[in-house]
Amino acid sequence: MAAAKPLQDNFGRTIDYMRISITDRCNLRCTYCMPKKVRLVPAEKILTFEEIITVCQAAADLGIQKIKITGGEPLVRRGCPLLIGRIKRIAGIEQVTLTTNGILLGEYLEELLANGLDAVNISLDTLDADIYRKMTGCADVSVVIENLEKAVKSGVRVKINSILQKGINDREWESLVNLAENRRMDVRFIEMMPIGCGKKYEAIRGEEVLWALKKKYPLAEKELFAHGNGPAVYYRIPGFSGSIGFINAVHGKFCASCNRIRMTSEGKLKPCLCYSDSVDMREILRGDDPEDIRREKVRKALYKAVRHKPAMHCFESKEQISEDRQMVQIGG
Ligand code: 5AD
Ligand code: SF4
Repeated sequence: MAAAKPLQDNFGRTIDYMRISITDRCNLRCTYCMPKKVRLVPAEKILTFEEIITVCQAAADLGIQKIKITGGEPLVRRGCPLLIGRIKRIAGIEQVTLTTNGILLGEYLEELLANGLDAVNISLDTLDADIYRKMTGCADVSVVIENLEKAVKSGVRVKINSILQKGINDREWESLVNLAENRRMDVRFIEMMPIGCGKKYEAIRGEEVLWALKKKYPLAEKELFAHGNGPAVYYRIPGFSGSIGFINAVHGKFCASCNRIRMTSEGKLKPCLCYSDSVDMREILRGDDPEDIRREKVRKALYKAVRHKPAMHCFESKEQISEDRQMVQIGG
């Protein structure tokens, strides 16, 4: 294939990062992410690993270098580490990372590392057993803490993603920040986005948490370099091994530097989290075209989705948000 044009949208943004959800199933029931009644995608509509690999190859042809595997909970899908290994071996893919709730991480860590996983994001909103049980519907936080310790010890890059909710876990920021004191691991606070069940909650502003952080640690200083693929802004507290990050998705619009595209587990390419528009990959992947034609069609679909990226989200005016999927169906 002649070198293809890289993925650039109508606003001059280069897209080199793709988030791929490999399942809409989850072993937890976080209240803001997965409602009690959610319609699951029938198994036969979920992309096979073969199909996901075809998408990744086409994406790599167009300059996608970093892939994040998400869910639901990606580790509930059997074979997730092997998929990661296969994606890692695609020419042009530099980094494959995973977002997980951490419950199954201990069980799969070795296999994930053997398959070349570059980094892991663990979603953890509290260290308190009761609050955790309430927020997740069922689970034991000590399992996640144990697994995150294992991950940090293994040397893989670890980040914690936390969402604070008023009156539920807003005091938890202090103990979450403390995790970064003696561990080489970033702790990031993400503003709750008004997607799916998230609409029912008011986002705590990242700024509020930052003020509290600066009050407690007056010497905390903003870092000048980015740590990953995303828009987080990081602060370093003297004496801490890890940094504290803020992803102010709602109040700190960072859309001008958006570098990403998403694909749901059923193969819908999503140009933006905020809107329901999508480009269907599954039909292309399951058509009876020969391999090279299919790959070309997948590349065209990627261009199309990127061309449809809007300039920015509209989280501030909820009535304009057209996305009606739940976060568990998108992958965050
Ligand atoms: N806003 C922001 N992040 C969310 N997540 C789930 N729902 C929301 C929301 N409404 C996060 C989870 C997890 C990641 C997959 O997405 O906390 O870290
Ligand atoms: Fe990109 Fe849309 Fe997220 Fe903004 S809201 S950062 S445009 S995906």
